[in-house]
Amino acid sequence: MTARRGDTVRDLVVVVGARPNFVKAAPLVSAFARHPNLRTRIVHTGQHYDEAMSRSFLRDLSLPRPDAHLRVGSGTHGLQTGRVMERLEAYLDARHVDRLVVVGDVNSTMGAALTGAKLGIPVDHVEAGLRSGDRSMPEEINRIVTDSVASRFFVSEPSGVRNLLQEGHPRSRIHHVGNVMIDSLVRALPRARARAIWTSLGLSVREYGVVTLHRPANVDDPQRLESIRRALVRVAGRCPLVFPVHPRTAHRLGRLAKGGAVRWTVPLGYLDFLSLLSGSRLVITDSGGIQEETTYLGIPCLTLRSNTERPITVEQGTNTLVGADMTLLERLIEEVLSGAYRRGRRPRLWDGRAAERIARILAGPDLAEDASSPARDPARGRRS
Ligand code: UD1
Repeated sequence: MTARRGDTVRDLVVVVGARPNFVKAAPLVSAFARHPNLRTRIVHTGQHYDEAMSRSFLRDLSLPRPDAHLRVGSGTHGLQTGRVMERLEAYLDARHVDRLVVVGDVNSTMGAALTGAKLGIPVDHVEAGLRSGDRSMPEEINRIVTDSVASRFFVSEPSGVRNLLQEGHPRSRIHHVGNVMIDSLVRALPRARARAIWTSLGLSVREYGVVTLHRPANVDDPQRLESIRRALVRVAGRCPLVFPVHPRTAHRLGRLAKGGAVRWTVPLGYLDFLSLLSGSRLVITDSGGIQEETTYLGIPCLTLRSNTERPITVEQGTNTLVGADMTLLERLIEEVLSGAYRRGRRPRLWDGRAAERIARILAGPDLAEDASSPARDPARGRRS
């Protein structure tokens, strides 16, 4: 594609910070690169920084080197968000930026969105509108705050459109484009399958289950974590389980005996994890993204939460909310193993082309109204 005469170049900054952000940003950055009037820079906040949580993801997803790394690291929510805002503000203040693109619902997403809006830079939120209705989850606060200051909303499922309309956002700024996380999956799946990582664990395809857990509600309460751990050990007697352990969970589990037939591993990179997922019989998780990935792959997903901001995975996909009910978990696992668990279907627009739809909108002529949004007053935000 070549730039037409008169096309104005738009300078975009895409902010990433934590593991799921990298998966969502990668297809966006490559779709933007195919539009000559979009010029993209990446800023990595450094919320995740380990080899396993960050660097291996950047490599597996071929994300270009970030233009800046803000090194915010770990800490309390206030500290992490504050550092993102302080450091991103300095970065944005020193450059010409037309639009700020933020993805998902992590602390870096919210910190970046607030910073952009206060500087009068239109904020594009990818994966906008999702709501669990549960404000005890930090991600729910991040979603609400991010959407309240965003200019454009790129939505992965119809519930997101409904939520944004209910909150009073104009229809003209809401775009149901599909799911960028599925874009990454579609692109990586052939390479991931070819890795057949289950063979290195001595397992056969469709013989085993995968477990991931990292939500504070599940892992920060020792009693809850112990009841989940015991259930996993029982299930592993019927169906081998592989559990790549998130650092937050590893810190908590360290105090509990891991035990049993569960295979506890370090966190895996994107391609290795997708390989593991693609060969599995079932998944037990509390992740948001994995509810979507299993729906796309048609793999039964038992979610250890009592709500989801991604209801389409329950309505159309393969996801069931189990909450903290370990008896229900074990009953559903028997259903899966006996072949009685329901089959799902792939939601509309989860087709690998969501990022391209977003790129076309951001490269197109219809964004002028964003400049007149309330946030676009240059007197606001610069210096108090
Ligand atoms: C964050 C997101 C969550 C997302 C998850 C994916 C928020 C509020 N939460 O949760 O939505 O699903 O990322 O992983 O933004 N740590 C390391 N190495 C790292 C990063 C973290 O060891 O590279 C450890 C630190 O001890 C840290 C803890 O993990 O305190 C939690 O990290 P943090 O980014 O605060 O939250 P996550 O639980 O990863």
